[in-house]
Amino acid sequence: MPLLLDTNPLREGLPTERVAEPCAVVIFGGTGDLSHRKMMPALFSLYCKGLLPAGFAIIGVGRRARSEDDFRESVRASLEMAQVLGPGSCAWEDFAAAIKYVAADHTAPEDYQGISEALTWADTERGAAGNRLIYLAIPPEGFEAIVRNLQTSGLDQSDGWTRLVVEKPFGVDLESAKRLNTEILKVFREDQVYRIDHYLGKETVQNILVFRFANSFLEPIWNQRYIDHVQITIAETLGVEERGDYYDATGALRDMVQNHALQLMSLVAMEPPASLDPDDIRNEKMKVFRNVRRVSEDDVDRFAVRGQYGSGFFMGEWAKAYREEPKVAPDSATETFVALELYIDNWRWSGVPIYIRTGKRLSRRMTEIAVQFKDVPDVLFRKARPEQMEANVLAIKVQPDEGIVLKAESKVPGLGLRLRPVQMDFRYGSSFGAQAPEAYQRLLLDAILGDASLFSRGDAVEECWEIVTPILRSWQSRPPEGFSNYLPGSWGPRSALDLIERGGRRWRKL
Ligand code: BG6
Repeated sequence: MPLLLDTNPLREGLPTERVAEPCAVVIFGGTGDLSHRKMMPALFSLYCKGLLPAGFAIIGVGRRARSEDDFRESVRASLEMAQVLGPGSCAWEDFAAAIKYVAADHTAPEDYQGISEALTWADTERGAAGNRLIYLAIPPEGFEAIVRNLQTSGLDQSDGWTRLVVEKPFGVDLESAKRLNTEILKVFREDQVYRIDHYLGKETVQNILVFRFANSFLEPIWNQRYIDHVQITIAETLGVEERGDYYDATGALRDMVQNHALQLMSLVAMEPPASLDPDDIRNEKMKVFRNVRRVSEDDVDRFAVRGQYGSGFFMGEWAKAYREEPKVAPDSATETFVALELYIDNWRWSGVPIYIRTGKRLSRRMTEIAVQFKDVPDVLFRKARPEQMEANVLAIKVQPDEGIVLKAESKVPGLGLRLRPVQMDFRYGSSFGAQAPEAYQRLLLDAILGDASLFSRGDAVEECWEIVTPILRSWQSRPPEGFSNYLPGSWGPRSALDLIERGGRRWRKL
């Protein structure tokens, strides 16, 4: 029996209370890290909430031969590790019965026969009704081969719908992203393609549109007349962990800015869409990307800063330098920190700097979008606040402690007149008494429901590559000076402070 979406209060005003149709979820990279850490726990959580359709199946595809039982056991272990399976959770056995494993080399067309048989099982035994969600949870080098082989083996067609979910990174530069779009669109229509950016699945990120457009007090002041600048921070305390080989070939600009940071920026900056239809939203985001001023390669140092972490004591332990991490070149020039100053040259944002900073091994894990308003005329309260008054800031806390905080000046209680900034706080947890669901739950469910609002469209991905391309090229052409240039537990290199201070501003203390 198909089930309805739960009612998440923050989802009101966004599309959909639609019915999830039966389907098979095919995961290429079924034995990989992403599948185990994120996808399986998300699917199981959806299942426990009754949000997966009754006729569903999960087909894990991996290179290694292994038995069905062995694969199911590894899924079970991932669920336990993610703490979604345990005393009080829903039944594992029923979920396990929906799982199948196929050993296949995704580059070998003949191996797709096994996948085809598993899909027949899903349709006949599980009632998946010919609907398929094909998820590419493998490194991007494999994407094109899979799409080609799906076509050769006829798996791009079925009696129901077929959707393709593509993980990031979508290409490594503009050319490769274009080629990948072309290859995918030879086989699937754009409306069948779901390019994941998991930041769009985060609850507070979805709330940006609601907060902006479902309230009347913000919109009149949401422009260059009242906003001084915007700061987007995506800070991580982790280093590169086990992903040295991927990361060393990628770097923070490609890993975090081209996708996550620019997506956050577009939600803050976009015009109200004509409706909440995926394409209306994505059209507006696209206009923002198009209007981002392109930095010329010669000017990159004025607008972009790169950094790499060194070694040092961090969180009570000795932390290795990036260049000492496993599978990282000892003389690596890869950046683990980026700070940018961008401009959106349109009516609303003209002249408003958008500062972006992201990095690994920073002082704390924190993703925040802060909109800093302009100062009030400094005429009334000089005595009440002899030091400079602080401008209003609206901070959208994406993680952790999801919420929205407004900093405003207030009178200190007492007979005299003294001013001090206070915070007006909306915290997701205390207001709704609920934990935000994991991003992958929302995104997987939306893909099953056929709602592409939170996924990137092909043209937008290419536009975002265009924005970062001059910076990439400039950095590739010149080895970095003085790497490593920041300590673990700091807020990045000194040059990041210079970048923002040049404009007379400061990074927020987080
Ligand atoms: C991924 C990046 O897209 O996002 C990782 O590849 C990064 O390097 C991760 O650690 C951060 O995601 P989150 O959800 O933990 O903020």
